[in-house]
Amino acid sequence: MTRSRNTRVASDAGHIYPNCERGKQMRIGVLTGGGDCPGLNAVIRAVVRKGIEAHGWEVIGFRNGWRGPIEGLTKQLGLDEVEEILTRGGTILGSSRTNPYKEEGGVEKIREVLAQHKVDALVAIGGEDTLGVAKRLTDDGIPVVGVPKTIDNDLGATDYTFGFDTAVHIATEALDRLRTTAESHHRALVVEVMGRHAGWIALHSGIAGGANVILVPERQFNVEKVVEWVERRFERQYAPIIVVAEGAVPEGGAEVLHSGELDAFGHVRLGGVGQWLAEEIAQRTGKESRAVVLGHVQRGGTPTAYDRVLATRFGLHAVDAVHDGDFGVMVALRGTDIVRVKLSEATAELKTVPEERLTEAEVFFG
Ligand code: F6P
Repeated sequence: MTRSRNTRVASDAGHIYPNCERGKQMRIGVLTGGGDCPGLNAVIRAVVRKGIEAHGWEVIGFRNGWRGPIEGLTKQLGLDEVEEILTRGGTILGSSRTNPYKEEGGVEKIREVLAQHKVDALVAIGGEDTLGVAKRLTDDGIPVVGVPKTIDNDLGATDYTFGFDTAVHIATEALDRLRTTAESHHRALVVEVMGRHAGWIALHSGIAGGANVILVPERQFNVEKVVEWVERRFERQYAPIIVVAEGAVPEGGAEVLHSGELDAFGHVRLGGVGQWLAEEIAQRTGKESRAVVLGHVQRGGTPTAYDRVLATRFGLHAVDAVHDGDFGVMVALRGTDIVRVKLSEATAELKTVPEERLTEAEVFFG
């Protein structure tokens, strides 16, 4: 990567980005892709504030994920537009699961729209899918810097993604509330949380909320063992709370799908394992057992202070990367530092819950 001042910027793949000379007056685009999550607006605000105040750049928003730069759907982003958005959930830019590589001429359209709007570089805020596209676009000569978001916390190369802390907080509060009603009625409560193929939300909310069983996609579960833990809890005159990740799988079974439909990135829609498990528990124990699906509640509303800070720092550092002409990278959290990692590294594989994290939680089961 060429780094010296006022020189042309080249990617590792050898692409020259002629409009991205260091020190140049720039016009940058920002977009948010994939499932929304709390903190997206905090990133947008930080990018706009730093881009304008520190560098005198112009910032333009693209609406609805990659759909925006494909169809030229824009939103002006000045200082006024980002006032009072720090605490707001969702994204003022809108989002979508559009994959430009699945659309006829998608990449060429992006190139044309960026040229038409005189956009020199993009900041793409998203999870594995959005950032996978960002990587391919950078390889294809379109300069992009990535910012990692997802409530699932399953992106490699960063310790945490923003949105995760808020989702865990919401799920934990739900568990606290469900426990009191479960105790009153001597019921087992099965709480299904999101996370797709990673069990981070289940593990963290389960530990924080004192769950009696935590089931995650990383380790298939034995229904008889779950029933044993549930009965042990009832014997001690307490109501069992079981946290199950939407992607958790019973031994010898398969993921429970909400529908067989695939999105543009080939993902299935998960959901239903909680209800299935609640019925199994009721049948095998004879005790009343109910399922609660937290669903999109986990993604909505205002971000926690932790997520606001993390999202803000990611936005500021993404602008630094653009300023340095360092494209094809994602800003990432390592310990307490924000670093840059290659998008190829960030999207290479999902970060799943390690076995030892599950084992250490087991002492609380039953
Ligand atoms: O990736 C975030 C996430 O909320 C997953 O936890 C969940 O499986 C998926 O998105 C749901 O997607 P949608 O909002 O498209 O139903």
